[in-house]
Amino acid sequence: MAQNTLTITDNRTGKHYEVPIEEGNVIRATHLRDIKTSSEDFGLMSYDPAFTNTASCKSKITFIDGDKGILRYRGYPIEELAEKSNYLEVAYLIIKGELPNVEHFQAWEQNIKTHTMVHENIRNFMNGFRYDAHPMGMLVGTVGAMSTFYPDAKDIFDLESRRLQTRRLIGKMPTLAAWAFRHSLGLPYVYPDDELTYAGNFLSMLFKMTEIKYKPNPALERALDVLFVLHADHEQNCSANAMRSVGSSQVDPYAAVAGATAALYGPLHGGANEAVIRMLMEIGSVKNVPDFIKTVKSGSRRLMGFGHRIYKSYDPRAKIVKRMAYEVFEATGRNPLIDVAMELEKIALADDYFVSHKLYPNVDFYTGIIYQAMGFPMTMFPVLFAIARTSGWMAQWAEMVRDPEAKIARPRQVYFGEVLRHWGPIDSRPEPTMREDQVSDRI
Ligand code: ACO
Repeated sequence: MAQNTLTITDNRTGKHYEVPIEEGNVIRATHLRDIKTSSEDFGLMSYDPAFTNTASCKSKITFIDGDKGILRYRGYPIEELAEKSNYLEVAYLIIKGELPNVEHFQAWEQNIKTHTMVHENIRNFMNGFRYDAHPMGMLVGTVGAMSTFYPDAKDIFDLESRRLQTRRLIGKMPTLAAWAFRHSLGLPYVYPDDELTYAGNFLSMLFKMTEIKYKPNPALERALDVLFVLHADHEQNCSANAMRSVGSSQVDPYAAVAGATAALYGPLHGGANEAVIRMLMEIGSVKNVPDFIKTVKSGSRRLMGFGHRIYKSYDPRAKIVKRMAYEVFEATGRNPLIDVAMELEKIALADDYFVSHKLYPNVDFYTGIIYQAMGFPMTMFPVLFAIARTSGWMAQWAEMVRDPEAKIARPRQVYFGEVLRHWGPIDSRPEPTMREDQVSDRI
């Protein structure tokens, strides 16, 4: 009968080792430590700089099959959730594991709405940023600062405390995000309106001017809500990994969300849709697309919004966003960049380079076009992502806090620096082999 084990032969010693295989395809890296040439030997370890083939946790939250283009939250296909659900319901699902009934949903919605206001000193804090501060930088700093307003959040092993911080963070992120936007325009901050939906209230805090009551455009409200659903979680991506890694020190969740938001700020993560817009503006018109594709194939450029570490077929979120673009344009007017994007996609998907490299549109290919049509500046794109991803971060964090196997994240390294050296007085050191400026170049 087939055994769920892996037999390893160490050719240095001729010894055999039986390593258990768990969950169908998982071996524990710590078992490699038993493979030694002598009792003084440290033992083997695996080297995986970007975690490309290393699972850092066990999770029940999000399932992705990158080859088949499948994304599910708690087992529910993203297509069904985007069409039939709404962001707050999806946030409940991600965090609690099940869809709510009517009573639970009402209580959840009420709880989130109760926490949309922020302490007035947070408003003063945000006012202190420079007039041209990047809204994502403001968000990182302000979420981190919230840690000082809620010292009770340090009690991370208390279920009620975790629940409270989760509601606070999901409730307050849109407020901070909208105020960061208003700050960049020099406009007064707008307080939350709890009579509106989650997305509708966010639009109100962004765009309300002198009217007594802001009435969000239903098409834009729904589109924003769907975009929040699509961005709610994506298993162990860079920012979720940051959330878990920072949180593993048992710091409070505000500090951990600040770390996750900082990870999302980077151009390789939350900033890719901005890069898509810049690329589309540079291409300018449909007639320039073939030449641009040639530069990509020659290796001198990347087709931004194409390719993904996990998806090796069409990103299921990109399909939904593409369809939605036209619904948004009915309310906002057409963003002409969509024609360039469609032509790029058409040519790329018929081209052997992109097909053989398994490069398909990812979620960022069309989101920027929609956000731009809705009136968001590019600096706000990752901020919108952060609002939606807060539910995912909190679910990932809570799963880690409850995990009996969780420990402080602390990877190993492969040291290849100098061996033992001894300090000597400055005037008796050997002549350096490099100039001072070259030494600094090492940093
Ligand atoms: N355009 C052209 N060629 C590409 C692209 C692209 N967008 N992406 C990957 N390739 C090619 C690489 O040149 C490489 O080719 P080679 O094997 O002939 O050298 C091959 O495909 C593999 O590329 P890697 O960079 O090794 O793939 P990786 O999984 O590390 O990168 C990534 C994934 C970063 C998303 C990459 O596809 C990329 O840079 N895409 C453009 C940026 C982008 O859209 N990022 C958003 C990702 S989605 C998100 O974060 C929400």
